[in-house]
Amino acid sequence: MASYEYADHVYDVVVVGAGGAGLRATLGMAEKGLKTACITKVFPTRSHTVAAQGGIAASLQNMGPDHWQWHLYDTVKGSDWLGDMDAMEYLAREAPAAVYELEHYGVPFSRTEEGKIYQRPFGGHTTEFGEGPPVQRTCAAADRTGHAILHTLYGQSVRNNAEFFIEYFAIDLIMTDDGQCQGVIAWKLDDGTIHRFNARMVVLATGGYGRAYFSATSAHTCTGDGGGMVARQGLPLQDMEFVQFHPTGIYGAGCLITEGARGEGGYLTNSEGERFMERYAPTYKDLASRDVVSRCMTMEIRAGRGVGAEGDHIHLHLNHLPPEALAERLPGISESARIFAGVDVTKDPIPVLPTVHYNMGGVPTNYWGEVLDPAADDHNRIFPGLMAVGEAGCASVHGANRLGSNSLIDLVVFGRAAAIRAAEVIDPNEKNRELNRHSLDQAMDRLDHLRHARGAVPTAGLRLEMQKAMQADAAVFRTDETLANGCEKMTMIADKIKDLCVTDRSLIWNSDLMETLELTNLMPNALATIFSAEARKESRGAHAHEDWPDRNDTDWRMHTLARVQDSTVSLSYRAVRTDPLTGHNEGGIDPEKIRPKARVY
Ligand code: FUM
Repeated sequence: MASYEYADHVYDVVVVGAGGAGLRATLGMAEKGLKTACITKVFPTRSHTVAAQGGIAASLQNMGPDHWQWHLYDTVKGSDWLGDMDAMEYLAREAPAAVYELEHYGVPFSRTEEGKIYQRPFGGHTTEFGEGPPVQRTCAAADRTGHAILHTLYGQSVRNNAEFFIEYFAIDLIMTDDGQCQGVIAWKLDDGTIHRFNARMVVLATGGYGRAYFSATSAHTCTGDGGGMVARQGLPLQDMEFVQFHPTGIYGAGCLITEGARGEGGYLTNSEGERFMERYAPTYKDLASRDVVSRCMTMEIRAGRGVGAEGDHIHLHLNHLPPEALAERLPGISESARIFAGVDVTKDPIPVLPTVHYNMGGVPTNYWGEVLDPAADDHNRIFPGLMAVGEAGCASVHGANRLGSNSLIDLVVFGRAAAIRAAEVIDPNEKNRELNRHSLDQAMDRLDHLRHARGAVPTAGLRLEMQKAMQADAAVFRTDETLANGCEKMTMIADKIKDLCVTDRSLIWNSDLMETLELTNLMPNALATIFSAEARKESRGAHAHEDWPDRNDTDWRMHTLARVQDSTVSLSYRAVRTDPLTGHNEGGIDPEKIRPKARVY
């Protein structure tokens, strides 16, 4: 039995993660008077939301006509009819209020001539229920929108007396024997102390797991820590087969070039100089949904029309745009293109390639962020004491494919919703229960075992094997063969976790141990992804299956639930919620408008 000393903390709420969703939840909880702690493995303003570029979607109508129902329709269509209708309605309806709230908190949005929040076009966002021209719905702070939001939310959280535990790594959840989350145990990275957080509500806001892949726009910190912790408690992960490839990662480096670049008038060409998106998506062209654009780029490359010496990428042109527009609206990506591709965007095209960007799947929740209890037959019961928001959660608002700029709005709408709900369900006068000794011991034994691991497999080597397997076998296009191979390879790779070797035994700034813990989180996310993908015999959203090229609503309009234990994955399914929150005669959307149909742009 591991023997460690502990520091103890008692809170109403502990939020794990300080990206957009974590900070919006933290701020909301603190504003509601809940005693709130936020634990984060990096300084809050270094969380991955800081890298979000293009903007945040809300039907403000600052640049022309728009309506929350058009936003809802686009989100439903973008999700390829896999999103839960109540969550999608909540997102589209609440988006304008959530953005105005950000404005009032102090987010420095770009402005129109009249001083309104500037909005740009983004892929898949349209007018008139997909019948009209593209809409300018994406509110932007130049191309550094995430940076602006994150800094503002951190300042406001501190102002509202939220307490931050910075550079603390959450090791595991603490659960009662009767199936309730009651806290989290964390390692303070700079001095090696171990901290037990007792909380009435734990909110997982740990972001995605992009680093399960070899090339991703995600930060190296995006290691699916929330998903890993949840999987270790025997709870399922939902819709993990849906992994988004962003069309314009910089070739080689993988850094993001915002979709806002195409929103501002940029376009893609192949080796023949052809604007090929006109062929594939005659109406919305380069502003089709990003899963569609990524597939079209891949098809052009496969057809021998890629650019570069090896014909393995595509060109993104901004060089026809006025230099002053680039300087005002796209300064960040102009700099990224110069640094990472050696390109002056005013003169030359940027070499780009579809790159892993976002995980639609995550911990299944309702639209308040409450984690669903998988033991309940109707999948509506709540798992007490646990919430998941942002990319770590799956409400499910993005279904099989997320629209660009629907992520930042997801973070703030559902971070805010979690705070509203927590204030309703937590009675601050009630005492926290004593932490479950057995659950604590399990977590610490796991840490101690990894800390002293003396096997033959270095963490970095195993991580690379996993990343290469996922990149090769759970790619933009998948087949029965690649997915079956992927499952076999990933099972062998995951089995090697038992044989890891960690060379540094200290607890102070031990990056070897931290990366090992992260790998144990990445692995269940990656396994759930490949096994869920292998089982889904259809094509939907980001899951493009060449042996099953059509969407099959009869058999497959349902959410996958994947439980991972060691290297074994078991799958079950739950129904998609098809009823919107509001009936048509109460001002809600006409159900006819959101009935499944072919998804063309
Ligand atoms: O292209 C972008 O700026 C990315 C936005 C998003 O993923 O929402």
